Amino acid sequence: MSFLETFGALTLIYILVRLATFIYQILCPLRVDIKKFGEWALITGSTDGIGKAYAIELAKRDFNVILISRTKEKLEQVAKEIQTKYSNTQVKIISIDFTKDNSIYSRIREEIHGIDIGVLINNVGISYEYPESFDKVEENEKFLNNMIRCNVDSVANLTQIILPDMIKKRRGLIVNISSISGRRPTPLLGLYSGTKGFIDLFSRSLAAECISRGVYIQSLCPGYVVSKLSGIRKASLIAPTPEKFVVSALDRITLPFTTGYWTHEIQEFIQSLLPEFLSNKIAMHVLSGVRAKALKKRNKGQ
Ligand SMILES: NC(=O)c1ccc[n+]([C@@H]2O[C@H](COP(=O)([O-])OP(=O)(O)OC[C@H]3O[C@@H](n4cnc5c(N)ncnc54)[C@H](OP(=O)(O)O)[C@@H]3O)[C@@H](O)[C@H]2O)c1
Repeated sequence: MSFLETFGALTLIYILVRLATFIYQILCPLRVDIKKFGEWALITGSTDGIGKAYAIELAKRDFNVILISRTKEKLEQVAKEIQTKYSNTQVKIISIDFTKDNSIYSRIREEIHGIDIGVLINNVGISYEYPESFDKVEENEKFLNNMIRCNVDSVANLTQIILPDMIKKRRGLIVNISSISGRRPTPLLGLYSGTKGFIDLFSRSLAAECISRGVYIQSLCPGYVVSKLSGIRKASLIAPTPEKFVVSALDRITLPFTTGYWTHEIQEFIQSLLPEFLSNKIAMHVLSGVRAKALKKRNKGQ
């Protein structure tokens, strides 16, 4: 075989492997019965958006649910909504602000002591008010602490609290919600992208450690979903409602990494083919536009 023939054959193999992986990700042929993981599911950030949709969908699938979020009134409202729909479901609420110091984890530990948690959804997360250069973000120090505590510390600490029991029982599922922005650099959302990058690598590493011990761990990296955080109000092919997104993501729990939704899978695949300098240029252009629009709207409101 000549050098060119060898190069061509290797390129073809690479393309076929990438395509096969992409098709596997979309179809996810391996399914498991989620109910076998345990009696209770714990969801952080469960009073809005994706977290609320997980709480309602898991209650529908016969889990008792522990809801953790910041605002007590909203927690009570979601608990009531779940119990009205699914009267046999037990709901426990814990009001916690994840931007506070690490003492919150002792309280969570006490509150969930003795409960058989089979599913943990580490969903809570905050982002920028609008895209901005890291050095120009207002109240930079507070912003940095809050985002690392909420997006990074919450995932690592709750996993540390709940995983050992799952391993002992040789069953369980942990879904850690990263983002498509955690898969590669996202200029003007640098800190968010960095926190989500942590979640992605942390989860995929733990997934490899834990799969032989009966526990599934997933890095879930969505693209846009309708929510307060995304600022998208109307559902589309690219941005599904949280309810539609969660049903799709729950069909893919055996994948250590997934975007959770078929159009996001295509988006991730295309982005992964682009050289980094090009995807950075495109992201910078698009997010500068979003920034300019947000600032214009803000200035009008003042
Ligand atoms: N939506 C998207 O397009 C998208 C895309 C990729 C990844 N994600 C990720 O998905 C996750 C959920 O996003 P979302 O769009 O559903 O968000 P969302 O609609 O803004 O909901 C956020 C939830 O988190 C709670 N929360 C916020 N700050 C908190 C804090 N400091 N302490 C405790 N709870 C707090 C909120 O409770 P309160 O109501 O009490 O504030 C609310 O229940 C995030 O990790 C996000 O990064 C979202």
